[in-house]
Amino acid sequence: MILGIETSCDETAAAVVTWDGEIASNVVASQAELHRRFGGVVPEVASRRHLELITPVVEEAIDGHEIEAVAVTTRPGLIGALLVGVSAAKALAWARRLPLVPVNHLHGHVASLYLKPLDLQPPFTCLLASGGHTMLLDVRGRDGYDVLGTTLDDAAGEAFDKGARLLGLGYPGGRELDLLAREGDPEAYAFPVARVPGLDFSFSGLKTALLYAVRKLSEHELAARRADLAASYQRAIVRALVERIEATGADRVAVVGGVAANSELRASLPDAALAPLPLCTDNAAMIASAARYTDPVPYPEYLSLDARPTA
Ligand code: KG4
Ligand code: ZN
Repeated sequence: MILGIETSCDETAAAVVTWDGEIASNVVASQAELHRRFGGVVPEVASRRHLELITPVVEEAIDGHEIEAVAVTTRPGLIGALLVGVSAAKALAWARRLPLVPVNHLHGHVASLYLKPLDLQPPFTCLLASGGHTMLLDVRGRDGYDVLGTTLDDAAGEAFDKGARLLGLGYPGGRELDLLAREGDPEAYAFPVARVPGLDFSFSGLKTALLYAVRKLSEHELAARRADLAASYQRAIVRALVERIEATGADRVAVVGGVAANSELRASLPDAALAPLPLCTDNAAMIASAARYTDPVPYPEYLSLDARPTA
């Protein structure tokens, strides 16, 4: 069994996964409540909270399971947040004389598809859409991928969060915007879908269009049009994502990352393999899953292993 640890952003997570991809435990402590009053993740606040949560979260995940390897997200992410997970993983692995597996968070999101019961086999084309990344990936084996396209500015999840903020919704905004959009008319506003060459994405123009639309309205008018704005804005993001997937010409498509939880995106891709809802947003089961296809560092060579903010 593999213990996975994930602390790259504002979720403190630990999970135990078997070598053949069964989830034995999956614990996620979200810090969303803590960061809400700031309207976004405050890195230093996140690091300090990870320190408080990491031991109880790991203990709850292990819960008597016999651990044979420790996997941890080492990149990319908030450096102070990553360091809490990496330090905890080193200490746990070293004390038990276990190997340590350094995992790339993005590989982790893709590996959410390799857990049972989905257990998806490559090859497939994967949309990875989260708060920090928006990428199209060519996945030919479980040990990695090639990047076909990426965002030139904001990530899709960031576009959801910033849009939600402009509409006066809570943080994190993606889920709230998704819920509100169900009550609105997606054709009420014609928001632009950016067309950049190749398979890249751009969402900053869309965000500006929403800003201008909101500015034109009084407080009272905004209250009346909020659901229509949310629905139209969500429609534009989903269209941009779906158009890019279609542009690859791929017939086997998968979607992972926090934005894969979006109900309109899921409904727009009826033939795609979708990460299960609890595994879309950050978790440690996906990190342990990726570790099944990543070279471990043997005991005790990993004590100098470092975290890195970039992929
Ligand atoms: O993968 P994730 O948990 O963290 C990163 O690695 O960034 O993704 C978080 C992102 C946030 O931007 C959040 O607003 C978005 O995923 N998200 C959603 C939904 N649920 C989460 N966006 C749209 N619709 C949702 N239902
Ligand atoms: Zn993530």
